[in-house]
Amino acid sequence: MSESISQGKAETATIVLPNGKSCQLPVLSSNRGVPVIDIRQLGRNGYYTHDPGFKSTSSCQSDITYIDGVKGKLYYRGHSIESLANQPFESIIHLLLLGSLPSDQQKAGFTKQLKLQADLPAQLLKTFKQLDPNIHPMDKLQIGLHLLKPNSGLKLDTHEQRLQVAFDIIAKMPLLAALCHNPSAPTNLDTYAERFLGSLLGSNAINSVRQSAFDCILMLHADHEQNASTSTVRMVASTGACPYSACAAGIAALSGPKHGGANEACLKMLNTIGSTSNIPDYIDRVKDHQDPALLMGFGHRVYKNYDPRAAVMKSLCHQVMKQASDPLLEIGQQLEAAALEDDYFIQRKLFPNVDYYSGLTLSAMGIPTQLFTVIFALARTTGWLAHWLELHQDPDAVISRPRQRYMGK
Ligand code: CMC
Repeated sequence: MSESISQGKAETATIVLPNGKSCQLPVLSSNRGVPVIDIRQLGRNGYYTHDPGFKSTSSCQSDITYIDGVKGKLYYRGHSIESLANQPFESIIHLLLLGSLPSDQQKAGFTKQLKLQADLPAQLLKTFKQLDPNIHPMDKLQIGLHLLKPNSGLKLDTHEQRLQVAFDIIAKMPLLAALCHNPSAPTNLDTYAERFLGSLLGSNAINSVRQSAFDCILMLHADHEQNASTSTVRMVASTGACPYSACAAGIAALSGPKHGGANEACLKMLNTIGSTSNIPDYIDRVKDHQDPALLMGFGHRVYKNYDPRAAVMKSLCHQVMKQASDPLLEIGQQLEAAALEDDYFIQRKLFPNVDYYSGLTLSAMGIPTQLFTVIFALARTTGWLAHWLELHQDPDAVISRPRQRYMGK
């Protein structure tokens, strides 16, 4: 199969197939980033494309988040993450779901509304008290999403109805996330960040540094275009499954150590290294493909120069660390420096991602390691539901059903 993208005005790509047929495929421009070739008619001509891991495949049209992987930039609805670093998470929810940052008056009303909807159903609280405490918090969170689904009366027919359901799920996430660690003390404080931190650590443990650091952590994790968990949410939702099930599936996808689970895995890795003198040995291990060890918190499918979330997270980590000292920070910094000057990492364009410093930051805030990925999910639920809403408004959306290259008998 040969392919050529025609030059000049015609916005088509011509593919000449081995059977001699040629296909004119529309080239669709993007507002930012690379254009996409619309291959939908290719299957009718007897060929599918083959792209394991979707490394070159756009699965949908979206106007929520844009990543410039070369420049290392991330935008939510056109706003750079750096410009959003001081916003309370309520503003980020407003931005992602409704398309714009709220005015001060809207923010106050919206914050109050989320607080009013934050309490968890009594039956859910009762069930959580009976759960085996050894279940991983990410699994509890998944259970919690299913338990949140009303047994009857769920209305998802109009955009307004879906928006209300999305707000309701998002409003309940801080107390649900805290409940995954502590089943007895959900505390409905005023803001999103306070509700989670207060329920987890007690309201005395909240101070302005922790609260704004936590808002920033939530903002950095809120959305990341078609990542594995968001694509999972979209795929599940494309079947008509409800948003509770779609978000529960997103939680499952996020839990893996190559995705959201990397923050927990990164902290475990730093603990395993244990001392700066062990760094050279660990670097040798991750370079050896026979050894399954990876440098957790390094590398990214889209960012190939640097992850802008990591830069914000690193400075946040230093701010929080002023309030708490941690010998792991020294190991983390020396490991990062050693990797960044090593040819293996330079040649493969491997840099710290958001998860490299988030575990250290959360740990310094007194948050238990097993909750790190839950916090990622707490933030990402907003992104998932923004995509869920978008999917339902997309006239091109159909059930996701990939093809395969069959090599069996
Ligand atoms: N440590 C050591 N080697 C690595 C690492 C790493 N963290 N990441 C990639 N490589 C190597 C990989 O072995 C491959 O080597 P070679 O070319 O010799 O075969 C090369 O770099 C290219 O890697 P890849 O696996 O093709 O990259 P990918 O785009 O498929 O995977 C990734 C991206 C993030 C899954 C991977 O870099 C990784 O597993 N990193 C560690 C886990 C991690 O930190 N995940 C969090 C991602 S950011 C948060 C989120 O959005 O989920």
